[in-house]
Amino acid sequence: MEASHLLMNLLLPPIIIITILLVFPIYFFYTIVHSFIRSFTMEDMTQKVVLITGASSGIGECLAYEYAKRGARLALVARRETMLKEVAKKARAMGSPDVIISCADVANSDHCKRFVEETISHFGRLDHLVNNAGISSSFYFEEASNLTNAVPVMNVNYWGSVYATHFSLPHLKKTKGKIAANASSSAWLYGPHMSMYSASKAAMMSFYETLRVELGPTVTITTISLGFVESEMIEGKHIGLDGKVVVDPSRKDAVAHFFPIMKAKESARLIVDGVCRGDRDVTDPSWLRALYLCKVVAPEVLEWVMRFFFIAVIRRMESFEKRKNGIEAKKVF
Ligand SMILES: NC(=O)c1ccc[n+]([C@@H]2O[C@H](COP(=O)([O-])OP(=O)(O)OC[C@H]3O[C@@H](n4cnc5c(N)ncnc54)[C@H](OP(=O)(O)O)[C@@H]3O)[C@@H](O)[C@H]2O)c1
Repeated sequence: MEASHLLMNLLLPPIIIITILLVFPIYFFYTIVHSFIRSFTMEDMTQKVVLITGASSGIGECLAYEYAKRGARLALVARRETMLKEVAKKARAMGSPDVIISCADVANSDHCKRFVEETISHFGRLDHLVNNAGISSSFYFEEASNLTNAVPVMNVNYWGSVYATHFSLPHLKKTKGKIAANASSSAWLYGPHMSMYSASKAAMMSFYETLRVELGPTVTITTISLGFVESEMIEGKHIGLDGKVVVDPSRKDAVAHFFPIMKAKESARLIVDGVCRGDRDVTDPSWLRALYLCKVVAPEVLEWVMRFFFIAVIRRMESFEKRKNGIEAKKVF
């Protein structure tokens, strides 16, 4: 081993531990005071322009209503036109002065370029970009025979957010705007049968954390880690082993027995509050922070608990629910 690495190995850990012990109380005090002050300086969204991807259902739909109530003008993106039109109509009724819709697939870079250009040509500015479009995957890795079927998970969740961010950034810099990245607690919590989804969300999280360092305070970035929230996804919509999007209600039944599922409306309110305050992250429910601490200080313990819980308990429940209800997953795409 090079002498410089040996020296770093010896010196860096004690220096960092001592610095953390000395600085942490001041840092903790600073974050409390800072978040208290920020709660009084919440951004006024009246006439501001917000682009939301994945706005046709679930959390994205509720985000549209939450921004509408605050008087923002909206550009709503998703693939299902009829549902987008419905959301746009409700958003106008809830207070948004102007709403446009764009049918687009975020996994396609040209589509992302188009919907950002449409937003700018219609409104002339962009204040918030909310990267929310996402798709879940659900299978045990060793059961997959053709892994290319899982590629859309990365293309939608990760690349879809990266493309939209790339084309929006010049406009966000002009308005000193904000980006919200709806990742997931799955980005750092080990959720068996969700390896592809979790990896795409971890990539998303890592991308935005790096971007935050690159951009500094010019564009504020809020990463979002939610637990289970009511939506089409939580109803069991996911990409299966054959690459088709299916709805399998037994997934929800297995989870709902153990975890409280949050209302999408309430999550949307917390997200928009956090983004308007300029928070670094929004984690809801907040007890997830305790699990994150556990992952950092005792990762094995979390692994054991997740393994026992998901594999021993939930897998048994899934097969029980399927047998009981005779459920067959329904293909939707
Ligand atoms: N529900 C949860 O428990 C939970 C927890 C943590 C994080 N999240 C994240 O929250 C976000 C929203 O999910 P949700 O729970 O609200 O589920 P949802 O109801 O299924 O919403 C997903 C949205 O993404 C859109 N979408 C999917 N693929 C797309 C594509 N290729 N191009 C454009 N839009 C696409 C869908 O619209 P179209 O089908 O019309 O295109 C829909 O509007 C996702 O990123 C998800 O990972 C959800």
